[in-house]
Amino acid sequence: MLMSGENPTTAKIIIGDKEIELPVIIGSEGEMAINIKKLRALSGGVITYDPGYANTGSCKSAITFINGEEGILRYRGYNIEDLAKNASFTEVMYLIIFGELPTKSQLDEFENELKENAMIHEDMKKFFEGFPATAHPMAVLSSMITALSTFHPPENEHEDHRSDIIKLLAKVKTIAAYSYKKSIGQPYIYPDPKLGYVGDFLNMMFKKSPTDDYQVNPVVEKALNQLLILHADHEQNCSASTVRMVGSSKGNMYSAIAAGVSALWGPLHGGANQAVIEMLEAIQKDNGDIEKYVNMAKDKSSGFRLMGFGHRVYKNFDPRARILKKAADEILAELGVEDPLLDIAKKLEEVALNDEYFIERKLYPNVDFYSGIIYRALGIPKEMFTVMFALGRLPGWIAQWKEMRADPEFRIHRPRQIYIGHTERKFVPLQER
Ligand code: CMC
Repeated sequence: MLMSGENPTTAKIIIGDKEIELPVIIGSEGEMAINIKKLRALSGGVITYDPGYANTGSCKSAITFINGEEGILRYRGYNIEDLAKNASFTEVMYLIIFGELPTKSQLDEFENELKENAMIHEDMKKFFEGFPATAHPMAVLSSMITALSTFHPPENEHEDHRSDIIKLLAKVKTIAAYSYKKSIGQPYIYPDPKLGYVGDFLNMMFKKSPTDDYQVNPVVEKALNQLLILHADHEQNCSASTVRMVGSSKGNMYSAIAAGVSALWGPLHGGANQAVIEMLEAIQKDNGDIEKYVNMAKDKSSGFRLMGFGHRVYKNFDPRARILKKAADEILAELGVEDPLLDIAKKLEEVALNDEYFIERKLYPNVDFYSGIIYRALGIPKEMFTVMFALGRLPGWIAQWKEMRADPEFRIHRPRQIYIGHTERKFVPLQER
């Protein structure tokens, strides 16, 4: 029970004949939380139970604001629509990690530092050689980020962590491109300091050899810039929470980010972008039988979900999906690409949005629904889609890790549980079993 008044400062919980008063915290956008820090001590052992943490605020954060009911997403107070339209990915990285939009000289300095640190140690190429060509690039990315820490021992006791942050941002881009080169058996292309962050990534991906005269297409560069911005942070999602969880043991930034990459890989999270395209391809092969897949998604016994649909927080629409749907049309037209999967995706969206099952559960397309179609048009293979998500999300993970380490309420993350196993049993020796 929240105590009366528009802005209650306390809440009362009644457990049996015990009444416990707990403080209420109010965020800058009016979000309210009951601070249960003392609940266990005051109640004599009662804890809260919240599978999937859907009602649990795990931290206070000043990085990203989401209003799922109204479809609002802001980084450090700036609307995602404005950032996606007007900013560069490097500006957004700076904003998310350091808290403010950079001035021109701050941005120049930041971008120069990224260029200076873009090379990875030559010996790291030997690690790439050890992976089979069929290795999923997300497995390679996660392993290589951990390996990076052996070449650049983290300096995480420095207050601002700037040197580790720059190294990660700069080198993960190179690792991501090399993981692709490894999978197709082409030579690695060194970073080119004449190119910007996004252009350089494209160059390392698509230049076939050091002598190939590949030129970055500005339409592709602009589209990728926007995609990376849209993925840059999303508050306490599965991978960001993983980064905080690992970082809460005072594990270094590299190990926390590598864990974040692994968390992102799953199909319910970032892996959904690859799964969406696989689903659309399956529908195409099945003579475009959309109804069949919608019915399968509604049938719990099928184990199938409509990939790219639904979100824990957005219950109206995902603003990122709205931007991407429009962008998909524009980018495909600019590049002169016709993709039948885009038509299937649009029809699928229409059928699902008019179906009672999806309406009742407030299931809408999420960021992963249209992003894959754009990546395809940019020439990025589907195994790399989740790597693209990781590259975009990197500044978010770093900011979450940095904020957590500076938090005056910092504590190791250690949830409790409700034990439902056997009560005490007598040990039975092997010969008597
Ligand atoms: N297809 C069919 N049914 C669904 C779907 C879906 N995509 N998503 C949720 N539902 C149903 C679910 O079965 C449940 O039904 P009921 O109430 O009858 O049991 C209800 O909707 C609520 O679902 P939930 O599992 O409690 O929702 P959640 O908040 O735990 O899960 C989600 C969110 C994103 C994991 C889920 O919607 C999902 O599995 N979507 C498909 C995978 C996907 O697109 N993931 C990308 C998420 S956005 C980007 C990112 O975070 O990486």
